[in-house]
Amino acid sequence: MRVAGVIRYTVLLLTLLGTWLMLQTYFQRSWRTISLRSWLGATKKPSSEKLPRYKCGNQKSCPQNYFAFKIISGAANVVGPSICFEDLVLMSNVKNNIGRGLNIALVNGTTGQLLKTDAFDMYSGDITKLQTFLQGIKRGTLVLVASYDDPATKMNDKVRAYFTELGSSDVATLGFRDNWVFLGAKGLMNKSPFEKHIKNDKETNKYDGWPELLEMEGCAPRKMD
Ligand SMILES: *[C@@H]1O[C@H](CO)[C@@H](O)[C@H](O)[C@H]1NC(C)=O
Repeated sequence: MRVAGVIRYTVLLLTLLGTWLMLQTYFQRSWRTISLRSWLGATKKPSSEKLPRYKCGNQKSCPQNYFAFKIISGAANVVGPSICFEDLVLMSNVKNNIGRGLNIALVNGTTGQLLKTDAFDMYSGDITKLQTFLQGIKRGTLVLVASYDDPATKMNDKVRAYFTELGSSDVATLGFRDNWVFLGAKGLMNKSPFEKHIKNDKETNKYDGWPELLEMEGCAPRKMD
């Protein structure tokens, strides 16, 4: 009984091995990716994984005295935005600190330390809450903004003026369901180079009712004085 069992298993094993070898040879090219070696994790990793990784997953590294950042707007009303600064995700779905409307992170422009984050509902929210928030920003603060779903229904001239003061150009024309990503600073004397805006436009929208998401990465100068 035991001997018969051993023989039966051996035959079964040999049959399986034989079949596998035949298939391997037959489909060698197309099956290369699922060869036994790769199943065992022995294959070499693709060389692309050896490329250096920069902060926030950006394509370039930042020089000294610059902060790496990446801001991604929401996609339609489905995928939330994210804000990364010096390789730290400050706001995201996973962090559970985002919301529909405008997502804003404040960072100390000298030390790079996170001061606070908040999300402001721009469709049905309390706009004075955003006014108070913007009014309280101190000189030398970096302001990172990502839109989600609708950034502008409740927008008013006072809030537009605050964002303009932070270096925004596009806030003037920001409308219902536009996408907007922006990095500015309090005390900035000119327009910020870090801004992207895409209008909600039936003709060009990627999603039904919303434009495609915006992604912006770069290096923001540290404020030194
Ligand atoms: C940034 O941090 C420095 C050092 O702690 C502090 O002196 C300065 O007031 C801070 N600035 C802002 C805008 O928070």
